[in-house]
Amino acid sequence: MDVLGIDFGGSGIKGAIVDTNTGELRTDRFRIGTPQPATPASVLDVVNEIIHHFNWHGKVGIGIPGVVKNGIVLTAANIHDEWIGYPINKSFSEQTRCEVVGINDADAAGLAEVYFGAGNNEKGMVFLLLTVGTGIGTVIFIDKHLVPNLELGHLEFKSKTIETYTADSVRKEKNLSWEDWGKRFNKSLAYYEKMFNPNLFIVGGGVSKKMDKFEEQITIATPVVPAQMQNNAGIIGAAVHLAHL
Ligand code: BGC
Repeated sequence: MDVLGIDFGGSGIKGAIVDTNTGELRTDRFRIGTPQPATPASVLDVVNEIIHHFNWHGKVGIGIPGVVKNGIVLTAANIHDEWIGYPINKSFSEQTRCEVVGINDADAAGLAEVYFGAGNNEKGMVFLLLTVGTGIGTVIFIDKHLVPNLELGHLEFKSKTIETYTADSVRKEKNLSWEDWGKRFNKSLAYYEKMFNPNLFIVGGGVSKKMDKFEEQITIATPVVPAQMQNNAGIIGAAVHLAHL
């Protein structure tokens, strides 16, 4: 089935038509800068523009940087507060005349990796860590089954949270060297390893392309591999999610 996948990120909202059987993009990506403030109403306008760009009348999957439970956005750690309690599935479907289904952005990216990328051949527990802009999204899959909406980036750690200690934005804000940031990242991984004992960690987001800069600092026993779907994981996963409902 073909689904329009949309990824709502801090700097851009990107969409493409995805073949959910193969995870391949059927079109080029179309990107619009994230409106400021990124309220539900302003993001809806962008989603409508993307739908019109593709002249799309089918299903739409959209990844949101917050918890999405039963079609309702429940948290907004790094997005506008108006998202809290927002009935995205109902409201966006009514106002786009397409069937729209929201999913947490990390869950979406995780689905893409587990079905078509770095986790494709893995059994047992796979733990994905997606450093996305200011946030850290986390996902666990057990034999390819998603455990949705795990907000393990917000676990308390070192008098902060894993996210405020280890996100890529923290590296940039504090001007940390890759070595220093890599040590922090390794401590966070070690904590997750101790608590969850996964078979594999998959690291996504911008830092996954720069693993050579910090992999020497990774000393945990569990294998740590970079994500493979890169920039398209969110789009692909948001679309593939609809094929698994
Ligand atoms: C949010 C998560 C999201 C992650 C990445 C976190 O701050 O709480 O829901 O997946 O950022 O965008």
